[in-house]
Amino acid sequence: MPIIIASSNGSVGIDAGWEMLTRGGSALDAVEAATRLVEDNPDDHSVGYSGYPNLLGEVELDASIMDGSTLRAGAVGGLRGYRYALSVARRVMEELPHVLLVGEGAARFAAEIGMQPENLLTPEAEQTWRAGIEGHATLDWAGISELVAQLLKRSAQLTRDPEHATGTVNFIAQDAAGHIASAVSTSGWAWKYPGRLGDSSIIGAGNYADSRYGAAACTGWGEAAIRAGTARSVVLYLKAGYTLETACREAFGDLQPIMRGTPNAMSLVALDRHGNHCAFSTSEDRTYVYRTDGMASAVELPRLVV
Ligand code: GLY
Repeated sequence: MPIIIASSNGSVGIDAGWEMLTRGGSALDAVEAATRLVEDNPDDHSVGYSGYPNLLGEVELDASIMDGSTLRAGAVGGLRGYRYALSVARRVMEELPHVLLVGEGAARFAAEIGMQPENLLTPEAEQTWRAGIEGHATLDWAGISELVAQLLKRSAQLTRDPEHATGTVNFIAQDAAGHIASAVSTSGWAWKYPGRLGDSSIIGAGNYADSRYGAAACTGWGEAAIRAGTARSVVLYLKAGYTLETACREAFGDLQPIMRGTPNAMSLVALDRHGNHCAFSTSEDRTYVYRTDGMASAVELPRLVV
């Protein structure tokens, strides 16, 4: 039975992803269609157009997609000037003998495949960026490490729901043939150091899918997911025979020494090959969304707190 799940900010795209699945589209088509609508959303400052920029005021996007049936993956990091980062990642997967393109190479590839260049920085996002760097006329090295650390804390507090401010969008779908695909797209943390890649473009960290077991995708403090290999861990725990919920708890257990004492949050959504789904967060009151057969629209559920 087809199913699609997402982080809560995926609610603007999940029904489009579901329609794709019901029309016989693949899990890959579903997660791409759904993600594009989030990348379009000007009210979501964590993804695509209107994403919060880096320390220098440049919007840099990270995204990845994984086909759980072939274990092919594509990703872009630090992509500037093109809003559909996830589609560019998919074309990397399908057209290049590579997995990850970054920076100028990613933008060059986006232009070559006919993506439309544009300015992604909206006046609202620019205003927030300026408020953060106020009083720091020159962003030279002296003191910059402290400034970045201060701003990352501020970034974590931009709104009550980090998925709408400093977060990321996750989609995982299973199509009628049982194929699982996962997609992650983000503008990363506001005021990040230029060139910083988060977990969203790192296969195994923020995104992993294997149709034989399941998939997981992360939002939150990307550095932690990179250090613990979180998305891949969930899938390996599934392979080891754990239930989906226990697999996620084990992966959060691996994160514990990294998370201890930080103000940052980590969250993930996960789906197993039987269509079971769940979502976890280190913060209270977080939700995720899902849609499957017999549902008129997507439903929002609370995440389990670890
Ligand atoms: N999880 C998104 C990021 O850290 O950029």
